Amino acid sequence: MTTTATLADVPLDARAHVEVRLQGAVLLVVDQLCRVGAGDGLSGVLKRHRFLGDYLDAILPFVPPELGWADLHAWWLETVTQWELPAAGDLPLCRLGAAYGLDRVALTQLLVAGLVDEDSRFGGVFAELTGSSRRPTVESIVGITTLLFGTAGEPDAALARAIHDGILTAYGTQHPRSEWTVAPLPELWEVLRGRMPGGAASITARDALPGIDDLVTTEDFRQQCAQVGAAFADMDLVLVRGTAGSDRALVAQALAQTAGKGVLHVAAPHRPDLRATAELLGEASRLLPVAAALGAVTVVEIDPMPGESVRLDRGAYRGPMVVVMGHTGVVDGAGHRSKVTLDVPRLGSAGRAQRWRQALGGMSVVDLEGIAAASGLQGRHIDEVVRSAVSLASVRGEAVTLRHVRAASRDLDRRLLEDLAPRLDPAGDWSDVVVGDYTAVRLAELESRCRYRERVADALPSAYSSGTGVGVRALFTGPSGTGKTLAATVLGSRLGLGVHRLDLSAVVDKYIGETEKNLHRVLSAAEELDVVLLIDEGDALLGRRTEVRSANDRFANLETNFLLQRLEHYRGIVVVTTNAPDQVDAAFQRRMDVVVDFLAPSARERADIWRLHLPADHQVSAELVDELVQRCTMTGGQIRNAVLHAVVLALPTARPVSDCDVEQAVASEYQKAGAASPYDPSGRRHGVSHARVFREVVS
Ligand SMILES: Nc1ncnc2c1ncn2[C@@H]1O[C@H](COP(=O)(O)OP(=O)(O)OP(=O)(O)O)[C@@H](O)[C@H]1O
Ligand SMILES: [Mg+2]
Repeated sequence: MTTTATLADVPLDARAHVEVRLQGAVLLVVDQLCRVGAGDGLSGVLKRHRFLGDYLDAILPFVPPELGWADLHAWWLETVTQWELPAAGDLPLCRLGAAYGLDRVALTQLLVAGLVDEDSRFGGVFAELTGSSRRPTVESIVGITTLLFGTAGEPDAALARAIHDGILTAYGTQHPRSEWTVAPLPELWEVLRGRMPGGAASITARDALPGIDDLVTTEDFRQQCAQVGAAFADMDLVLVRGTAGSDRALVAQALAQTAGKGVLHVAAPHRPDLRATAELLGEASRLLPVAAALGAVTVVEIDPMPGESVRLDRGAYRGPMVVVMGHTGVVDGAGHRSKVTLDVPRLGSAGRAQRWRQALGGMSVVDLEGIAAASGLQGRHIDEVVRSAVSLASVRGEAVTLRHVRAASRDLDRRLLEDLAPRLDPAGDWSDVVVGDYTAVRLAELESRCRYRERVADALPSAYSSGTGVGVRALFTGPSGTGKTLAATVLGSRLGLGVHRLDLSAVVDKYIGETEKNLHRVLSAAEELDVVLLIDEGDALLGRRTEVRSANDRFANLETNFLLQRLEHYRGIVVVTTNAPDQVDAAFQRRMDVVVDFLAPSARERADIWRLHLPADHQVSAELVDELVQRCTMTGGQIRNAVLHAVVLALPTARPVSDCDVEQAVASEYQKAGAASPYDPSGRRHGVSHARVFREVVS
């Protein structure tokens, strides 16, 4: 027979490459069958496993006629190696081999292990070789590769490494090692065969990734990225630290793009099944061989807790990995020799305006600069808001306007915060909050501090500016019903920011550590979304740390300590309210930027509060209001309740609220508190006003 075909004529793509490589594995398997089988030689083997004849027929045209059976596999391997050489960088199997330092022994083992996945008829072959299993076992694979490479290639150690690195998966590990069955990592096999692995990870080809020049960031940071990008291939671990709403993932993508690679991204949004940091890192490690075969960089995105230390294992993988994470927590792990950290800077208002324009593409939205100035939203969140604003507008067949952008950013707030900190709709103005001059001045100060917080942080010379974050921490103290919560919502409305109230019952968890996790999540989200975070009844969370008498005390102290630390570095606006300022830990009081005391309202203030609360069409006499103001030292909250009650009394008969309704409502408000009303309506109805009697007595 003459040789008619050469491998050079076979188009070299991933699929063809693995098929040709698999032929070599088949040769070895046939050889092994001849040796350990029934002793009836090749013809016996082909009789028992007819399909193997097809494989041999496919190789035959390439084989020089003078070559004997004994030299066939060595010759085939050599020929294939020459054939693949020029394209090695583009072939998944070769990329995998280079990234893990796999030699011919290890690659052949991988192919032998993959035979059954490729063609289930090999199940019968392995059943004959192993005597029990339709899949290759450790013993059979080692036996087959020893045939070609001898024991000098240390086939046993090579197989152990491939299992350790997760390239091969071992099953039945409760049995003796020689009996373990072995299969390639399923997603890896897909990639080696030139297919995309289904579902497991989000994979982006290099062409679809942004470059470093596409990033909206500072010049300084752009240069840092360019430097890291240029030296990327020599790095083991790159940490990109930034807040969850920043462009931190884009930075990772741009680094990969610069290094000529695609990205395999493991992050919670694509993988709702993985929640814990350790699970995400485990998945990233598991998929490392897949990324290596794709020629992609593994990017894993995590948000560890403050103080949390997490491990990332890379096995024998040589090449860069990127961990995208927040500013808290540390990553350590075996095998990372070089580690570089990039800190994604926050965008100031000019950067944000540019980022909004980028996200909007060509669309123009009126007063975009206004949004960029008022809201601190960063890159990824800006993208998200724009995407949903566009779909909101298109559903209604309208062009995108500021209204859609506002609605979309409210939706984002809700999605990220609603479960632990529901939104209070901010409304009103300072004129709706009736307080004394002193309190009013403090509130105005607080508003300015919030409004100019980015500029305040920049104003101090750098020697003094450390620790001057952009955050504003305010403590509102005062009795119940004096307008603390009201003032916080008015503050949000004045600043054009949403207000979210921490729901203590949802945050506090009976499981140790869960409360901190919840707090961390709310605080991070509130900070990022740039909303006013309201912590009502702050004394419950920020109570004085007690002497530890029971395990419970210790945990309560842990939570207070956690919150103290977290608030110190808080970058957003947080308002804590309390009725019991002396219960609030002193360390916490010291860290407050603004403290506002709310006092029980004076008579004049009560009069204003009554006036502001009564419905526009009321028919309550000025005399009665005057009387109530003088006699009943009610708080704003009580006045509000009384008015609501009076409205309810008047509603069924569709008449305006009258004296009668208000008198009854006030009496019941006192009853509710278990006290007698200091105001007796009967006296006044008989024409004698208490106020007048009082005035007469003193005059
Ligand atoms: N100073 C005030 N000016 C105008 N209205 C007030 C004032 N104080 C209270 N109110 C009315 O009472 C309602 C309840 O007040 P708010 O919830 O703000 O009190 P608070 O100080 O937060 O009380 P708590 O300590 O019980 O939470 C307000 O929505 C408002 O209608
Ligand atoms: Mg309140």
